[in-house]
Amino acid sequence: MSRTPFIAGNWKMHKTVDEAEQFIAGLLPRVSTADGVDVALCVPYTALAAMVDSTRGSRVEVYAQNMHFAEQGAYTGEVSAAMLAELDVHGVVLGHSERRELFAETDKALALKVPAALEAGLKVILCVGETEEERERGDMQRKLRHQIQEGLEKVPTERLGDVVIAYEPIWAIGTGLVATPEQAQEAVSFCRDLVADRSKEQAERTRILYGGSMKPDNAGELIALPDVDGGLIGGASLDPQPFSAIVAAAA
Ligand code: 13P
Repeated sequence: MSRTPFIAGNWKMHKTVDEAEQFIAGLLPRVSTADGVDVALCVPYTALAAMVDSTRGSRVEVYAQNMHFAEQGAYTGEVSAAMLAELDVHGVVLGHSERRELFAETDKALALKVPAALEAGLKVILCVGETEEERERGDMQRKLRHQIQEGLEKVPTERLGDVVIAYEPIWAIGTGLVATPEQAQEAVSFCRDLVADRSKEQAERTRILYGGSMKPDNAGELIALPDVDGGLIGGASLDPQPFSAIVAAAA
């Protein structure tokens, strides 16, 4: 079964609305002819409405970087799935390692967030990945098993393939250290096996991205791996030139 490659940029806490508008003006002409690849940008809450507006009718989809699982309530500073859907936001990236490490995001919360997002009509990218220490002591598979089994636990079987998984080894994020093709393929195919434990058919549909220091010069090789269906890009998504070069490598 063929899966459409997917390139998503994660801006993290970068870009004011003004800077985001400048970026999009530079990006759209560069990606308008790239065929056979889905493109998304995960942007700060404050830029969501402007980016939805500026990308309307283009191939670029707009994602948020977090949300709360509750429909509403006394959760100061949080945003619900319905609030994102109301803005015509296409999706949300959940469980990024920075949210897990710096903001105490748990697998238990993600088990509620993933189905809440899907029910609100949002697409989901669920991030997983091990630290350098976990890899060295042979705990990579255990970590990925927990993160994927719990993150997908309350997702109905027939919707499993709708959830994009991003395998981002924490030691490769923002470090310039990129996983070797062998490391990336091994981890990503393990992620697919975990989805297959629930449904083989859905695992064939599931798109799994690699993230961690993906750049134009290494993207082609990583995306060509049998189980890698694209990339989640941090630093190289902040400028239209390298980001569009990665989109072109996937097209
Ligand atoms: P870098 O591409 O900057 O390593 O970041 C990866 C990432 O965390 C994307 O979510």
